[in-house]
Amino acid sequence: MQVDGKNYTTIWIHPQNKKAVQIINQKRLPFSFEILDLHTPEDVFRAIKEMEVRGAPLIGAAGAMGLYLATLELKEREKAPVHLAKTAANLKSSRPTAINLAIAIDAMMAELLKISSLPELQETAYQLALDRVGLELDYCKRIGEQGVSLIEAISHRKKGDTVNILTHCNAGWLACIDYGTATAPIYLAHEKGIKVHVWVDETRPRNQGSKLTAWELSSHGVPNTIIADNTGGHLMQHGMVDLVIVGSDRTTRTGDVANKIGTYLKALAAADNHLPFYVALPSSSFDFTITDGMKQIPIEQRSSKELSHIEGMYNNELATIDTTPKEGTQYANYGFDVTPARLVSGLITERGICEANEQSIAKMFSDLMKT
Ligand code: MRU
Repeated sequence: MQVDGKNYTTIWIHPQNKKAVQIINQKRLPFSFEILDLHTPEDVFRAIKEMEVRGAPLIGAAGAMGLYLATLELKEREKAPVHLAKTAANLKSSRPTAINLAIAIDAMMAELLKISSLPELQETAYQLALDRVGLELDYCKRIGEQGVSLIEAISHRKKGDTVNILTHCNAGWLACIDYGTATAPIYLAHEKGIKVHVWVDETRPRNQGSKLTAWELSSHGVPNTIIADNTGGHLMQHGMVDLVIVGSDRTTRTGDVANKIGTYLKALAAADNHLPFYVALPSSSFDFTITDGMKQIPIEQRSSKELSHIEGMYNNELATIDTTPKEGTQYANYGFDVTPARLVSGLITERGICEANEQSIAKMFSDLMKT
């Protein structure tokens, strides 16, 4: 997508230095647009852990880049299995919920370990990392093409009046490589001249909605309004929401959806108001090995500091301020929740829109699902 008239993806290889990976530092947005260079797998680990890169498809691509950088540290092919396995395990441990990370790393490891010469191994790692970036980008573009029909239908029903879409967290191009997952149909609808407006959940505690989604929608000229996380239900009761679209960090073969904490409450409110609640996700965000999202998806627990402090600009400096009492209080900071399949109207994938149940998912992804 464009930033100040220039096209960007969220991760790429340095154009003048094949041994460095570049990312947009999401921790600085929306206050400053900063590009960071990553030279080692440890740099990539830190970038994922510290959320300089974040969002399921993007951390999958970052993991692949981390493995590529690990191959550049090798002096001899014989050391590859141990060094790469150690790096892979470390990278995978950086964020537990999004499945894209493990999928990207495991797929790449399987290919790399077949190769017997070091230069060939490094060149293949370079290609595979770029392929992963290209794949996630392509998935998002196609999710947009598949999902735009939902917005078109509502616009038609409303006789061209604005379609109001609510989203939670950032499932935009920043969380992916380009286009986004939940936002891809929105960007395409906007491009087609359909009137859209997005209700952007602030998404406490890290404010991915107000800091990232609102920034990227506004940069692209898509009308949007930031709302406090608890506002969605009220808007739905008053006919101010036509459609909810969210992303996913991991979805089971039965259609249970893990996404940013608070998503489940939006799904409940949508169901109570008979509103469509769609989840947009690439095939790389499915975990086809599991059937029960509530029991089987690991939910990341994050630092209490995200709850006790808030970060923003103060006197032109990035500042962190304390917002809660310290004594006698404990904190529980769950990063994600699981929305049961029964609350999901449909899954918008790169292959089409399917129902959130095992039969419908299996029909669309029989080749990836095996048994
Ligand atoms: O903790 P984050 O910011 O990495 O969360 C991931 C997300 O951006 C959301 O859960 C998103 O809706 C799914 S990823 C496109």
